[in-house]
Amino acid sequence: MGVKRLIRKIAKFILTSQPETATYVNISQINYGGILNNKNIVITGGSKGLGFEMAKKFLHEGARIVISGRNEATLKKAVSELGNGVQYIVSDVSKVEYVGPFLKKCEDLFEGSIDCLVSNAGISLHENNFENVTVEGFDKQFNTNFRGSYFLAQSYLKMKLSEENSSGQLLFISSETGDQMYDIPYGLTKAALNSLTGALSRRVYRSGIRVNAIAPGVTLSDMTKDYAEPLNGNLSRNCASGRLFLPEEIAEVACFLLSDASKCISGEVIHCNVGNHLKTFWDKVD
Ligand SMILES: NC(=O)c1ccc[n+]([C@@H]2O[C@H](COP(=O)([O-])OP(=O)(O)OC[C@H]3O[C@@H](n4cnc5c(N)ncnc54)[C@H](OP(=O)(O)O)[C@@H]3O)[C@@H](O)[C@H]2O)c1
Repeated sequence: MGVKRLIRKIAKFILTSQPETATYVNISQINYGGILNNKNIVITGGSKGLGFEMAKKFLHEGARIVISGRNEATLKKAVSELGNGVQYIVSDVSKVEYVGPFLKKCEDLFEGSIDCLVSNAGISLHENNFENVTVEGFDKQFNTNFRGSYFLAQSYLKMKLSEENSSGQLLFISSETGDQMYDIPYGLTKAALNSLTGALSRRVYRSGIRVNAIAPGVTLSDMTKDYAEPLNGNLSRNCASGRLFLPEEIAEVACFLLSDASKCISGEVIHCNVGNHLKTFWDKVD
């Protein structure tokens, strides 16, 4: 028998002699009005902007919510607008020594474990230029957007992995700037988050935990109002969409990602910017 034929025979033997294992897949279909039924969801920075709209959407879909932020008055106002099913905790994500106790407090409020954690709290100092970046501003943005999210994720995953039959969801709110070449801290914090998303997903997926990120384009909120207001919401010269996105649009995507309908998605950075981060060969450089 020739060597090639022998190798083929051995390969065939190995491939066909594997024991058969059954694989079961539950297909969840979207049934709006309750796709997050009974899920306990924590949203950092849920008092306004994207976080607030996510809380509203998730609540409508049957979830129980805890929102957090630094300013208690803004949190109270948000809870009174959102209504039953939403509670708040005053907590600063940049104080990483408190993220463990914060998550424990969320569990106490839910009287149960946290199904989904949305790491949304973030700031942008809009320096506009590499030369304008200060050490203080650099640290402030990294401490909130990346260091805060990093250790929050670490505490959450530790908590989930210690549970029997663990299952959970971690969703980072990144930004389209994380996929562009950036020399000011904001985009760099988001690029780091994107990398973390993939790495953590690979680490915990087999334990029943999904990790994803959403990368919105410029979206109307307090963060962007100084930049957007003079343009009257019209970004036609600045980006592919030609307009600002609305926090409600981002909330829809987040809702899908936290629902069981997206069970086969993990490790992804979902861009909500109609492809603005994708540059083509014929793009104008100006
Ligand atoms: N708007 C956009 O165009 C856009 C685009 C891409 C990505 N994003 C991302 O989306 C997320 C939300 O942004 P947004 O536009 O909704 O901003 P926003 O309207 O300014 O809201 C930010 C939220 O985060 C909270 N927050 C800020 N620093 C915090 C800290 N250290 N600890 C806890 N909470 C903190 C704020 O509450 P307190 O001030 O009371 O703490 C507030 O609830 C951010 O991660 C941002 O980078 C926004």
